[in-house]
Amino acid sequence: MTVLVTGIGEMATQDDELGELSDAAMIVDGSAIGWIGSRRDAPAADERVDLGGRAVVPGFVDSHAHLVFAGDRTAEFAARMAGSTYAAGGIRTTVAATRAASDDQLRSNLERLAGELLSAGVTTFECKSGYGLDVDTEQRSLRLAGALTTESTFLGAHVVPEGIERDAYVELVSGAMLDACAPYARWVDAFCERGAFDVDEARTVLVAGLARGLGARVHANQLTEGGGVRLAVELGAASADHCTHLSDGDVDALSGSATVATLLPLAEFSTRSPYPDGRRLLDAGVQVALATDCNPGSAYSTSMPLAIALAVREMHLTPAEAVRAATATGARALQRADIGILAVGRRADFVVLDAPSYVHLAYRPGVPLVSQVWRAGVRAV
Ligand code: NIG
Ligand code: FE
Repeated sequence: MTVLVTGIGEMATQDDELGELSDAAMIVDGSAIGWIGSRRDAPAADERVDLGGRAVVPGFVDSHAHLVFAGDRTAEFAARMAGSTYAAGGIRTTVAATRAASDDQLRSNLERLAGELLSAGVTTFECKSGYGLDVDTEQRSLRLAGALTTESTFLGAHVVPEGIERDAYVELVSGAMLDACAPYARWVDAFCERGAFDVDEARTVLVAGLARGLGARVHANQLTEGGGVRLAVELGAASADHCTHLSDGDVDALSGSATVATLLPLAEFSTRSPYPDGRRLLDAGVQVALATDCNPGSAYSTSMPLAIALAVREMHLTPAEAVRAATATGARALQRADIGILAVGRRADFVVLDAPSYVHLAYRPGVPLVSQVWRAGVRAV
């Protein structure tokens, strides 16, 4: 089945050859994009949809989210807004609630958040474990995530849980827990940070994951200028995430590498922390992605549009750069060649905005502009 989409006021393709088109039309052919061009050249199709001058952007790619958990941390957030500071240890509160939850409870929370992401225009999302921190709960977290996304990530190395020594836990995560989880994961991640895992511990876990055929991603330099970014580059990780506190050497290391710097401004918003300097990274030639980091502790939001607005306002990306970071470079952070740009042959994942231009995503912060979401050629919202 083919659908001709017309009345596209502006199309931000994120494809260097096409760029931004006005009065564009597009043919959706099954699950893929079959044709893009000017409306007057459009071929015939089985069906026709007119967007009335609305802007179209690629479906957002959220390459960093923690969606398998139970409970929330309202009190911790309120305390923070009253002056306390964010620390990695809050994760243990969610671990207790997650271990105690049934599969049905975890699934329904996960499905609720996945629904929010879709409504916010996210057509692909990554999902981490990391609130189980025992073999059984980490594995069931990944099984649940795997029902909704192919981009599931084993994050046994989130923090050291209560009741086990550090060394024993690192051995467990990189041994028996990894063995149980690797069949259900595409990626391995580690929180390399003060209060979580140091560089050597994180390296042990990531190297073990790489040896099992998983790709690496790293929570790096979120709270301190630690060694997470260098470790990500050293291991050829797909992305180094957060990148809030970077030395010049970190920026140089990223710019000479294939590792994407994934910025998570909703975490800085919700922890009242300084934002990473996105401009500095782009100017140094680093590939910059944007993701939600949705989790109950440091960023309880599924709003990719708000992340885009914050990236523009607080991290000095242009609106075009921010949309690219949330689409094409997000796809790159997941090493996906089938999504992230609007071009012939790519998956037909796109968002119709109730606005004449993608710039409105930053110009009208907090306004629900996502009016349609198409995923694999099917209208999902
Ligand atoms: O990406 N930094 C580590 N993990 C999450 C926070 C998890 C939590 O506080 O529950 C993050 O910000
Ligand atoms: Fe995170």
